[in-house]
Amino acid sequence: MNRTKIKAVLDSPQQNYQACVKGWVRTFRNNQFIALNDGSTINNLQLVVDFNNTPEETLKRITTGACISATGEVIASLGKGQKYELKVSSLEILGDSDAEKYPLQPKKHSLEFLREIAHLRFRTSTFSAVFRVRNTLANAVHQFFQQRGFVWVHTPIITASDAEGAGQMFRVTTLDLNNLPKNEEGAIDYTQDFFGKSTNLTVSGQLEGELAATALGDIYTFGPTFRAENSNTTRHLAEFWMIEPEMAFYDLNDNMNLAEEMLQYVIKEALENCADDIAFLSERLAEEEKQKPQQERSEMNLLEKLKFCTENHFERITYTQAIDILRESNHNKKKKFTYLIDKWGVDLQSEHERYLVEKHFKKPVILTDYPKEIKAFYMRQNEDEKTVRAMDVLFPGIGEIIGGSQREERYSKLLQRMEEMHIPAHEMSWYLDTRRFGSCPHAGFGLGFERLVLFVTGMTNIRDVIPFARTPKNCEF
Ligand code: 4AD
Ligand code: MG
Repeated sequence: MNRTKIKAVLDSPQQNYQACVKGWVRTFRNNQFIALNDGSTINNLQLVVDFNNTPEETLKRITTGACISATGEVIASLGKGQKYELKVSSLEILGDSDAEKYPLQPKKHSLEFLREIAHLRFRTSTFSAVFRVRNTLANAVHQFFQQRGFVWVHTPIITASDAEGAGQMFRVTTLDLNNLPKNEEGAIDYTQDFFGKSTNLTVSGQLEGELAATALGDIYTFGPTFRAENSNTTRHLAEFWMIEPEMAFYDLNDNMNLAEEMLQYVIKEALENCADDIAFLSERLAEEEKQKPQQERSEMNLLEKLKFCTENHFERITYTQAIDILRESNHNKKKKFTYLIDKWGVDLQSEHERYLVEKHFKKPVILTDYPKEIKAFYMRQNEDEKTVRAMDVLFPGIGEIIGGSQREERYSKLLQRMEEMHIPAHEMSWYLDTRRFGSCPHAGFGLGFERLVLFVTGMTNIRDVIPFARTPKNCEF
């Protein structure tokens, strides 16, 4: 008999038919009731075992974590909590699990502990829900762009440039670290390295994305990016996935509209396709929030937060307006910020971003026109000569979820900015060629995929929304 997935059994209007299910035992109570999960849904299927007609030996092997195959009749369930159950007629143990040694016990484990056994955490309700939602979001991102005629471009993972000019790169080399070749100046001789030059893992596919956009029109990338920044926070990973659309003929307004539309689209898709998982995660978050003091609890539950984002327009203000709001805020006056806002020009910390979103506007905010000193070289310079056409989308609980800009399409302005910022223009002539030949106004942005998953799942640590997190001093599995 062919295997039926548990989701199909639970979703089907049919009953009183024979089915075979396979999965992992979550619990086994009273020598009779198995809660079986196969990952197709957050919901377990209850199997009812006839213990009088099942060998004692087999019953003993039905333990938490064991893998089994069971055949029987799907019937309406008399017990509460489920519509159907499977009346088992034959049961086979596919893989034993020693209950004494199995690290996942049928009780609540802390997320910290589960992080240490990330190879098994897929088997918990929380993590299976998170990774199904992650999958749905990834699929929704592709749908969104494909429906609009964007071309998915695969940009390289190994590069010789620093797209953000921030120097936070992981070096890629095959040189013998114990015996580095030196040149006449005594510096490392990268001409002897694999690529004949110094190379690194990409921090962003944007620059290559721009090359494609200035020919294909609308493109996007979706791939892993790497940052060797020593930030041990709940929002930073050393390896994360980024979605970077880049559009010819877009200005900053078009860019903001696209970002807003995309975020709302993918969140709606998750709400529609992962209703059970999100309901479960919403409960989980509510439980977690109960541990916090009253004033730190969020006013909305997860479902409400997600709907709030899909149903409200994002507030759009300039950096300069944001600084005024922050400087005049009671929070600033009462010195509640770790970094007080005292002057125009400072970079915003996530505490400021979250204040604007959660306390002041109470909705997602897009900040534009940042001081050029705190933004990357490729952003379009404004007439005021102080600010650039940048945009950051700020989300509740997260802070910055998207960073983007209109790009500097004027060759001489770009070159001048690169010189000011000590970006080696001679190594980037391939990038400058887009401005030399048929330059066009264009814009784009980068969405940190894990920050999106963090928001939609209501998890609070970015390490819990990627299967195997890479963070400073941590590269297990
Ligand atoms: O703001 P960032 O650095 O912008 C860029 O990389 C541009 N090249 C994007 C573009 O215009 N095409 O990064 C973009 C987003 C951030 O808003 C954040 O969501 C995420 O990437 N991000 C990280 N996510 C997890 N861990 C990190 N260390 C991250 N750094 C950035
Ligand atoms: Mg940024």
